[in-house]
Amino acid sequence: MNSPLPSGQDDSPKPDPLLVATAAEAVLRAGKIQKAHFGQDVRIDKKGPIDLVTQVDIEVETMFRGMISERYPDHAVLAEELERDTQASNIPQYCWVFDPIDGTVNYAHGLPIFCASLALEIDGIAEVAAVYDPMREELFMAERGQGARLNGVPLEVSDAEIVLDSMLCTGFPYDVHQTVNEVVGLFGDFVSNARAVRRLGSAALDLCYVAAGRFDGFWEQRLHPWDMAAGALLVEEAGGRVTDMKGQPFSSRTGSIIASNGRVHEEMERIILSRHATRTDG
Ligand code: IPD
Ligand code: CA
Ligand code: CA
Repeated sequence: MNSPLPSGQDDSPKPDPLLVATAAEAVLRAGKIQKAHFGQDVRIDKKGPIDLVTQVDIEVETMFRGMISERYPDHAVLAEELERDTQASNIPQYCWVFDPIDGTVNYAHGLPIFCASLALEIDGIAEVAAVYDPMREELFMAERGQGARLNGVPLEVSDAEIVLDSMLCTGFPYDVHQTVNEVVGLFGDFVSNARAVRRLGSAALDLCYVAAGRFDGFWEQRLHPWDMAAGALLVEEAGGRVTDMKGQPFSSRTGSIIASNGRVHEEMERIILSRHATRTDG
């Protein structure tokens, strides 16, 4: 791949190595718990008609909250399943944004595509990212200004120039039963323009795969901070580009995302924009 160099190795201050080590340790511990229960008789509850939570989501998040409160009692945690103590209007200096299982529906069905996803935001900006896939033993790490790595090896986004030469990925939000025309309509627009479109069921891994050059681009709407915060930093640090679905600057609170190798970004934006401009069915 001969795309521009990842943004790593710039002059910005390095995050405290202890924070980086904590991030890696947390997702590795999460993966150990996930793997120990995977394919077993796991208790599954419904948060909505198709939105699941398993006992393993809860066990992993409980482990993580305990770890942070012991090591960094003044840091906040924004995670999916237990208390929501950090809203957009109240961004603390140090906030760990954690998804205990990204890909819970896959996990509940015994499909081995899931991960734990963790970002450390400092003053609202992701500085450290760690995503771990225990089934493939893939640890994706990024530090702002220091590049992205997979199991220690530097990552670089792909060099596809156009959507027609791209393999893209997306996900469907949990309100898809109510918004199927909108979501599948856009999916169809990409299918009819791209080389291939995939839907794996773990937004955090989808983003890691953009960082790794396995996908050329990813889009999804109505995501939460814990789905995107780590993966977005990984994509940027691998030399890619991240915006919201309107092409505006990304933050983990923006709710939607386009992440790409940079080269196909504007074409992806145009495909999304033209659907929104012509949409009549919500
Ligand atoms: C979900 C996954 C999925 C995406 C959904 C997310 P969860 O997260 O990332 O790929 O399409 O929008 O909510 O519920 O498995 O943590
Ligand atoms: Ca998630
Ligand atoms: Ca989750």
